[in-house]
Amino acid sequence: MCGIIGCFSQNNCYEKLFSALRKLEYRGYDSAGIAMLAEGEGGGKISVRKKKGGAEGLAGAPMAGETGIGHTRWATHGAPSDANAHPHVAGKFALVHNGIVENYSRLKAELAAAGEVFSSETDSEVIVKLIARAYAGDFFAAVSSACARLSGSYAIAVLCEDFPGEIVCARYKSPLVAGAGGGALYVCSDIPTLCGEAEYICTAADGEFIRICGGEIHFLDAAGREIPKTFSRVPPESRAQEKGRGSYMEREIAEIPRALADTLAGLKKTDFARCARVLRGAKRAFAVACGTAYHAALAFKDAAESDCGIPVLCHTSSEFRYRAPLVGEGDLVVAVSQSGETADTLEAARLAKGRGAYVLAVTNVAQSSLASLAHFTVAMRAGPEIAVAATKSYNCQLLCLYYIAAQMHFYKFTRMPPWFSSLFELPGAARAAFDCFPTMRSLAEALTDKRSMYFLGRDADVVTAMEGALKVKEIAYIFAEGYAAGELKHGTLALVEEGFPVLAVSTLSRLTQKTENALQEVKSRGAFTILLSQSAEVLAESCAACKCRLPDVCERLMPVVAVIPLQYFACRMCLERGYNPDKPRNLAKSVTVE
Ligand code: F6R
Repeated sequence: MCGIIGCFSQNNCYEKLFSALRKLEYRGYDSAGIAMLAEGEGGGKISVRKKKGGAEGLAGAPMAGETGIGHTRWATHGAPSDANAHPHVAGKFALVHNGIVENYSRLKAELAAAGEVFSSETDSEVIVKLIARAYAGDFFAAVSSACARLSGSYAIAVLCEDFPGEIVCARYKSPLVAGAGGGALYVCSDIPTLCGEAEYICTAADGEFIRICGGEIHFLDAAGREIPKTFSRVPPESRAQEKGRGSYMEREIAEIPRALADTLAGLKKTDFARCARVLRGAKRAFAVACGTAYHAALAFKDAAESDCGIPVLCHTSSEFRYRAPLVGEGDLVVAVSQSGETADTLEAARLAKGRGAYVLAVTNVAQSSLASLAHFTVAMRAGPEIAVAATKSYNCQLLCLYYIAAQMHFYKFTRMPPWFSSLFELPGAARAAFDCFPTMRSLAEALTDKRSMYFLGRDADVVTAMEGALKVKEIAYIFAEGYAAGELKHGTLALVEEGFPVLAVSTLSRLTQKTENALQEVKSRGAFTILLSQSAEVLAESCAACKCRLPDVCERLMPVVAVIPLQYFACRMCLERGYNPDKPRNLAKSVTVE
């Protein structure tokens, strides 16, 4: 949801900003912009280059300046356009913003009544106008007093022509990190972008300001008082992946076995004894997450309820935070987020913590906001995931959540569940799932022109079906529904007609016949049926027109591998239809706004 970068370098910082923007594009790519501040006689001069489209649109002759800010946009207020692209300028100031100013209409009306003329439809322009109006010679004070008037979320970086070499930044509920290295100082929306540039980093907390001036980085409170901070080395796992052949999504699917192996190695070293009391004592648990991570949370519910006898109330974070959940002292709240920056999941976790619950985070980013607010963090080691659609991180989330369920089992019954040792077979099984790819590729070719499809399953296979459907929707732009097979006859069957694709996942021996019944029902109405199962017998006896054999691991863990062919299928559908799987329309990787 928008990426911001700020840089000060003794030499021209244009190239540094430009290359950072290329890395930040995963956060939004509908427009991009740079503002540079060049020191001159009697102050500085701001120049701006901004454009609708990706960061590559900014390429050209380097702009002059030692200090600069940049932005990649994911539109919230105002369509993607040159005018709505950041940076926004007012008087001597230029600003980039990530977040949403929720009271912007009121502020805009007030500023318009005072004679301000707006050149964009964004909420962000309001902030720079407020700063310009508050300015009486003190740059920091102007930014601080403007921020005091904002509600919503923001990470901003601001330049002022009277202060060459200076950037003032503020953070509230949108991520912001400062970095230093290679003779340059940075502020940025994320850590991976700074990898290879900064050697040391330090994250700002909500309500804090960062001021780069005099070749130093200062953390300040709203009154300008210094906040002591410790910088840490850039973590090696944050190092950004370099783009090789094919799309990031294809490469990230290919990385699943390694990501699972790395995550397992990390899990083995994780000291769960630190949260043993909660895992043993919790009478119930909650799981909160969004999108793909929510599907992983649903799989956790299955495992924890069936194997540990602990009821798990699973909510999408956006619902959880507004529905007065009955969460409180003694509850375990598992918050799942690849990025650790998803605004709704952070708020859900904060709410739960505020009510006295114990928050256990599962995240791929060790220094994320979620990890810092949680009582305990279980780290996925999927490595950087650049493609917007989550793939390898989902497999690793499932692995972590099953591992946590196994720990709950251990602390409750003093032994691991019977499937615990099978966790270690997952990297190999994931690699074996690649054998399904030729079938999935042919299937994608055959179904390219379809406009909609169903994914069916029962019990844990419903979760896999839901995740498969989400992938197809978000990158191939085909309407897909992931559905419980038993529910078909209660409405959805009405849509099935000649040639309608229905893909069923059937990995649970006690339910294979039930899933087969559903396939029979749709087939009799003309559906094109597809079945995925690890059982040769089930496949042999099925009426499905297309069959695909999954690798065999214990049933509890099948969701980790059964989803892989579906991830690949969605990617192939997307490519067959001529789209870019890495940058689906209307989406961004890190959803840091509500
Ligand atoms: C779908 C996808 C999203 C994310 C969701 C949560 O492919 O990537 O649905 O899963 O936005 O993101 P995190 O896990 O970063 O909280």
